[in-house]
Amino acid sequence: MSAVVLQAQDLTRHYEVSQGLFKPKAHVKALNGVSFSLSPGKTLAVVGESGCGKSTLARQLTLIEPPSAGSLILDGTDIAHADKAQLKAMRRKVQMVFQNPYASLNPRQKIGDQLGEPLAINSDLTKAEREEKVRAMMTRVGLRPEHYYRYPHMFSGGQRQRIAIARAMMLQPKIVVADEPTSALDVSIQAQVLNLFMDLQEEFQTAYVFISHNLSVVEHVADDLMVMYLGRAVEMGPKEVIYSRPMHPYTQALLSATPSVFAEDRSIKIKIQGELPSPLNPPTGCAFHKRCPYATSRCEQETPLLRALEGRDIACHHVETIPTNMA
Ligand SMILES: Nc1ncnc2c1ncn2[C@@H]1O[C@H](COP(=O)(O)OP(=O)(O)O)[C@@H](O)[C@H]1O
Ligand code: SF4
Ligand SMILES: [Mg+2]
Repeated sequence: MSAVVLQAQDLTRHYEVSQGLFKPKAHVKALNGVSFSLSPGKTLAVVGESGCGKSTLARQLTLIEPPSAGSLILDGTDIAHADKAQLKAMRRKVQMVFQNPYASLNPRQKIGDQLGEPLAINSDLTKAEREEKVRAMMTRVGLRPEHYYRYPHMFSGGQRQRIAIARAMMLQPKIVVADEPTSALDVSIQAQVLNLFMDLQEEFQTAYVFISHNLSVVEHVADDLMVMYLGRAVEMGPKEVIYSRPMHPYTQALLSATPSVFAEDRSIKIKIQGELPSPLNPPTGCAFHKRCPYATSRCEQETPLLRALEGRDIACHHVETIPTNMA
């Protein structure tokens, strides 16, 4: 078994958008060269403000749309060189769980049938065998198997997300990409759903890319953390390393805004000022410079590259001289 199940290199996605009838087309630089590798049974958490490119990344990883540039090697096969049959096989290995389970379920189909569908398409199992597998998976995710014949609207939000998770797991994918999977749920339900993700990962050794705008949500599920800003990773590394000593001003600001993670006695509190700039017209240099309390003229001109420092990768010109004693 390969130690890496997914490898992304400089993954890039730009969207062409119209600016009006007589104006040239513009490009939304939603994803700007993201690289990482993911191991079986591990979770990479991706965090950042709304609009920073998280869902765009998810769409590249799940092969919903092709990247504009960069490479993606999934379980040993490079999507750039895969033919149609290979792509189909690859898609089966990566499943997605969305924020709103209701939107991803068919309101007019019994949930047992919806869960059995991936098996009907991708396996030679008989109807009875499929039903048995569906009931087993329903039990596994905390649903009652006798609810096989119910419709989605007859379940609570938390139960519906369990159904969506069950469906994603039916074919035992190598990777599950979960895009804000608990953001629409009551806080009291969130922990249960997070625990379910963790239990299933332990049982099936599924690798997760777990996307959230909320650092307290990912604290319990992440092995590694990638902090994104305007389509790029600005700080990336093992969760403990980053939570205990965030070094990028943006990571520090995100953690400052997350009271449950951010210990009272931390000496630095950074408030993020202003809005996330538009990826249609990104700032020059470091994309964070207009909101960064430590920005210099170099930051306005030169884009910082990720470099290894103190157990993580970080993209900031001045990290050596800014305060990082947050713990
Ligand atoms: N199909 C698209 N066409 C044009 N712009 C898009 C498209 N999809 C996303 N974007 C833009 O790309 C940026 C990143 O979006 P998204 O990946 O949804 O961010 P996030 O999930 O982090 O909130 C946003 O500015 C968004 O408006
Ligand atoms: S490169 Fe400059 S603007 Fe960007 S985070 Fe570092 S100090 Fe702030
Ligand atoms: Mg999103």
